[in-house]
Amino acid sequence: MNFKIAILPGDGIGPEIIGQAVKAIDAVCHKYGHTVNYTYGIVGAAAIDACNDPYPEATHRICMDADAVLFGAIGDPRFDNNPQARIRPEQGLLKMRQALGLYANIRPVSIFPTLRHRSPLRQELIDGVDFVCIRELTGGIYFGRPQGRSEDGQTAFDSCVYTKAEIRRICDLGFNYARNRRKKLTVVDKANVLATSRLWRETVQEIAPAWPDIEVEYMFVDNAAMKLIQQPKHFDVIVTENMFGDILTDEASVISGSLGLLPSASVGLHTSLFEPIHGSYPQAAGKNIANPVATILSAAMMFEYALRLPEEGNKIRQAVANTLQQEIVTEDISGNGKAYGTEEVGDAIARLILTDN
Ligand code: IPM
Ligand code: MG
Repeated sequence: MNFKIAILPGDGIGPEIIGQAVKAIDAVCHKYGHTVNYTYGIVGAAAIDACNDPYPEATHRICMDADAVLFGAIGDPRFDNNPQARIRPEQGLLKMRQALGLYANIRPVSIFPTLRHRSPLRQELIDGVDFVCIRELTGGIYFGRPQGRSEDGQTAFDSCVYTKAEIRRICDLGFNYARNRRKKLTVVDKANVLATSRLWRETVQEIAPAWPDIEVEYMFVDNAAMKLIQQPKHFDVIVTENMFGDILTDEASVISGSLGLLPSASVGLHTSLFEPIHGSYPQAAGKNIANPVATILSAAMMFEYALRLPEEGNKIRQAVANTLQQEIVTEDISGNGKAYGTEEVGDAIARLILTDN
């Protein structure tokens, strides 16, 4: 096959970890005889510096024109703790999600057996953990209007807004995932307090009869936050609104032992996008210490979801599992063992893809 991939390295460690994912993609394409064309675009603080727009039109065109987008990270400390900054790198990410219609963010959580000991949770709680968080990504309080300040500056407000149509499409995706897994869907909300959450429940109750083989469970978000730690094996597919999903997936990521391990896919109306769930980790930028695994696993998801090449995706995942087993790992998971650099881990994974059968 011949495909076009848009590469958006972004800020902080973004360029380094993306570089390792590109090595893995090149290796798997070489092995399976695919031709890949990369087009690079700027986004985030890098794009603010270049053209004062965190998601420039030129970058959008590159994404629309590609078969998939691989994205690094966004964020720069120059803009944090500066409430006066009118243009922020994160706006680029939100604009990109909206412009590409990426309404679903899919974050699988599972344990690499060789890294069980890195989890802060007891092993009997985490052995066999395997669930997927499906986070709504283009609605809710992230995008609701009105948002802003009163004229006297003494009051600020955000609005959480959802339409039934938005809820239906994300929950249908959740049901579909559950159907291909263990057939259990947990809808996480705050229906005891929020009107939008009550609309979520009402909508799910309307569509559930169309999925008679799926067991549906409703859970308040505070309770879900607790249950994720107390009994993570309880979950199969979680579907939830934008901000609850943001918070719960960071929480869920520590179960596996490092935020540097978890990939994600964002899918919707236009080109799908693949990115690690962690941020731009500016303290590590340029030091060759960041963990590239989440980005490499995001590339594996790209092969599976966007390019429909599951074998290639699996090949990448296997190579990652092998390097973890051989303890070729970065400092966030090396413990007392030797810590390898970002580049060395990337090279080892690419080499295994090429040489392993
Ligand atoms: C994420 C991030 C973003 C979000 C930030 C960087 C805007 O935390 O992708 O989870 O809140 O969606
Ligand atoms: Mg987040």
